[in-house]
Parts: sequence; C-alpha cells; structure tokens
Amino acid sequence: MSEPSATVLRELPDLDATAALAAAVAALARPGDAILLDGPFGAGKTAFARAFLRAATGDAALDVPSPSFTLVQTYETRQGRVHHFDLWRLDGPAALTELGWDEMRDDIVLVEWPQRLGALRPADALGVDLALLAGEARRATLSGWAGRIGALA
Ligand SMILES: Nc1ncnc2c1ncn2[C@@H]1O[C@H](COP(=O)(O)OP(=O)(O)O)[C@@H](O)[C@H]1O
Ligand SMILES: [Mg+2]
Repeated sequence: MSEPSATVLRELPDLDATAALAAAVAALARPGDAILLDGPFGAGKTAFARAFLRAATGDAALDVPSPSFTLVQTYETRQGRVHHFDLWRLDGPAALTELGWDEMRDDIVLVEWPQRLGALRPADALGVDLALLAGEARRATLSGWAGRIGALA
C-alpha cells in the first residue's frame, strides 16, 4: 500500500523522458485537478505542460506557447478544458481572481511559478518539482495525489 504523502522521484535524461512523464500525468488527470510545475528557468515547466496538452488533445503538433505574457492560455482537450498558467508576472492573488481562477479550478489547471498562488495554492494538487541536472538531464520530484501518485513511480 502506498503512503498518502508519498513522494516519487523520476530521473529524466532527456526531453522525451519529460514528455513521457507528462503524458502519464495527463492520463491520470481529471477536471478539478491542479498540477503545480515548480523549478527554475529552463527546468522544463513549459515543456512538461506542452507534452501534457499534446497528450490530452491527441494532437502531437499542438502549438503550446509559454503563457508568460498572457498569464493563462486555455485548451479544449479530451479531458475537458485545461488552463495553462505562468504566474511569473502575476501582480498578486487579486489579479489571479480577476483572471477567473475560481471558475477555472473546476477544470484542470497547470501552473508554472505556483509560489505566486499564495493562499490560493490548492492543497490537493500534484506537485511536479523539476531540478536541472547536467546537460539535458532533469529530476522530477512528484508529490501529492494520494492514491494516484503510485501510477507515476
Ligand atoms: N529533460 C528535459 N526536460 C525538459 N526540457 C528539456 C530537457 N532537456 C532539455 N530540455 C530543454 O530545456 C528547455 C526547457 O525550457 P522550458 O520548458 O521553457 O523551461 P521553463 O518553463 O521551466 O522555464 C527547453 O528548451 C527544452 O527543450
Ligand atoms: Mg515556462
């Protein structure tokens, strides 16, 4: 039996490995889920979101730009609507509420720079913390999603 607070470590030697993990997360995701993508610039947060959205739409060529200026970009997928956030430029939690955060939480949300959520950070989220290793290698630390995280080990 897996512990409710289990953490899963995944070594990601290249972009394909990150994309495969993102596709596995997408297969488990359902409306109401929050997936928080943590890690420094260049860690692969947007790359993860892009692979998630390509898997969820079934469109391997889907254009997924970084939403660093728009803050949020919405996609229709086979698993319902998915909102991809980049909160780096967010001007405080009130601005997030104005963007429609509360309503969007009924759908799937993918969030880069989740520290900016402050008190709005969902307690039941899947945390995906991406660390930069040498070259193309990354290490993902997955946390949360009790009962589902075992499928990602
Ligand atoms: N294993 C990997 N996982 C994710 N991205 C990788 C990996 N190896 C190389 N990259 C490259 O690193 C960059 C990550 O950029 P991006 O996803 O925009 O990062 P972030 O959104 O975290 O700032 C991309 O150019 C991607 O091709
Ligand atoms: Mg990014």
